[in-house]
Amino acid sequence: MPGSSKCNKPIGVFDSGLGGLTVVKQIIKYLPHEDIVYFGDTARVPYGTKSRASIVRFSCENTKILLKHKVKAVVVACNSSSAYALHVLHKKFDVPVIDVIEPGAGGAVAATENKRIGVIATSATVASQAYIRAIHAIDPQIKVYQQACPLFVPIIEHGWSSKGVTQTVAAEYLKSLNKAKVDTLILGCTHYPLIKNVLRKVNRNVKLIDSAQMVAKAVKDVLMQKDLISVSKRKGRPTFLVSDHPQDFKRIARGFLGEEIKNIKEVNYV
Ligand code: DGL
Repeated sequence: MPGSSKCNKPIGVFDSGLGGLTVVKQIIKYLPHEDIVYFGDTARVPYGTKSRASIVRFSCENTKILLKHKVKAVVVACNSSSAYALHVLHKKFDVPVIDVIEPGAGGAVAATENKRIGVIATSATVASQAYIRAIHAIDPQIKVYQQACPLFVPIIEHGWSSKGVTQTVAAEYLKSLNKAKVDTLILGCTHYPLIKNVLRKVNRNVKLIDSAQMVAKAVKDVLMQKDLISVSKRKGRPTFLVSDHPQDFKRIARGFLGEEIKNIKEVNYV
């Protein structure tokens, strides 16, 4: 029921670390009156090099942490988790769960003109072929070229996004996709929008698809469908939970969100 106390519960968002903040930023823009509880699993980042079983287990544990904070919906702001754990989360938990792969795939299909789409992502997301399936479900004629970029997440988590080394690594990773003449490139990891400027320098012509905006829109649609939109008139409050090193998270997140992170807590798995 609109206006019920359920509406004023927070939206839960999780990622392995900082990457999901790119999604949080857009949710704050689209849904300014919503409270958000963000969990960054900094003790176990990166996810993209882990096995399916580990990623599924981590994703379930993260969802339990968020549910303990009484969230009304869970946004899986991690492609690696979306690729492997989405169906398990849907089955196991009685709360709307929103992923990042479908919105990104839809955005890329709408953007491509030459029907050649590149996907850069973690090794886990690439191996899952989740983007290939999602794109072909919309248009089977599209050619999809994937490139795993396992060095990006550690570079970003280390706060080195604007260092020269990032551009050198990016140029190497994008070589095969440039050769394949993709006109659209999906940033298939929520960390990668943090190095958008570097990727633009490496290839100025390709359209970069950052699914964060589309995910925020999907969150709004789901909350509206379920009558869960907040009726509060005050600005939403974000709370940040991490499983390790809150000070490092706070420092890098501040740079990215452009404001001081006040509510940050280290939590244990439940
Ligand atoms: N940001 C996550 C993703 O979208 C996880 C990256 C990682 O931890 O390897 O895949």
